[in-house]
Amino acid sequence: MINSRKTSVTSEQIKSLLSYAVLAPSSHNTQPWRFEITDGAVSIFADRTRALPANDPDDRELTISCGCALMNLRVAAAHGGIGVTCDITPDSGNDDLLAVISFNKENSLSTDESGLFKSIEWRRTYRRRFASRDIPTEVLDSLSENASEEASWLEVIDSEDDRQKVAELVAEGDSIQWSNPSWRRELAAWMHPRRRGDGLTVPGIVAPIAQVIVRTFDIGKVVGAKDKQLADESPILAVLGTAGDNVADWLAAGQALEKILLSAHSQGLQASYLNQPIQVASLRPKLQNLLSQQGFPQILLRLGFPKDEIDAAPRRHLDEVME
Ligand SMILES: Cc1cc2nc3c(=O)[nH]c(=O)nc-3n(C[C@H](O)[C@H](O)[C@H](O)COP(=O)(O)O)c2cc1C
Repeated sequence: MINSRKTSVTSEQIKSLLSYAVLAPSSHNTQPWRFEITDGAVSIFADRTRALPANDPDDRELTISCGCALMNLRVAAAHGGIGVTCDITPDSGNDDLLAVISFNKENSLSTDESGLFKSIEWRRTYRRRFASRDIPTEVLDSLSENASEEASWLEVIDSEDDRQKVAELVAEGDSIQWSNPSWRRELAAWMHPRRRGDGLTVPGIVAPIAQVIVRTFDIGKVVGAKDKQLADESPILAVLGTAGDNVADWLAAGQALEKILLSAHSQGLQASYLNQPIQVASLRPKLQNLLSQQGFPQILLRLGFPKDEIDAAPRRHLDEVME
């Protein structure tokens, strides 16, 4: 338990905060982060040995994932009565150093931190069909506010016509990605049995067969049809975006994403991703053209009330991600 009466924060307390940071979502569950504790502060580094060059050639999603971990750290600190100061992309000559977080007594989060804190453990990427229940407007407004608080925007795809167009872009993205053998190989390489502690979980016994299928066959049409249906049926489809498209914007998008996911969970929702029209460079401007917000789409989310509970995805042990 974090002791809020102390003015300085010990390494043990920081480690306790980091145990929540690592529960953040990450693309392909690569957990592409490393942490270093020095003088009561913590540095977050991008671990580019865990990059996905075919899926994410600019490390954009990798950086967003690190931003999600940073938000968990901030929420856990706020829950423990510890304020944080974040120095984003400090000028260190090391491109891997994304942020240095120092701790102080003054709290910096404006939303209901304790509500968000409980959700760190229970947020899931929910890829199944959602219950056919509408999401109240106040909930959507609160999620948009979460995005604005983190220098990002969230635009809900409102009209049936636009939703249809987005669903078609998702299917087109699937088709382009699956037709690329490098992309399929990379996906297969991250399909792991649970005991590995990372990657997309496949039962140990079928993992080798599943990997061969993914590596060998272009099943883009089948996946595209399924994803199109998921997009069509989702109670809410929304795009998270930023004004710019550099490392600082991606870190902001990651913090916004995790704040939205935690806040959504605290209001009964879960989410999953249909990022294909953003991951495929030629489709990203087409998605942007459908939006009224200016800037760059970063994440395409579907949100809804889950029908059941699902297991947490595995994580590596904290020792594996600390310097
Ligand atoms: C930046 C980012 C991009 C992601 N892209 C996708 C995606 O395109 N498709 C998908 O199914 N999941 C996507 N995910 C979800 C991850 O696969 C998921 O976070 C990971 O498997 C861990 O599971 P959890 O979120 O339930 O903890 C993404 C997550 C992040 C943070």
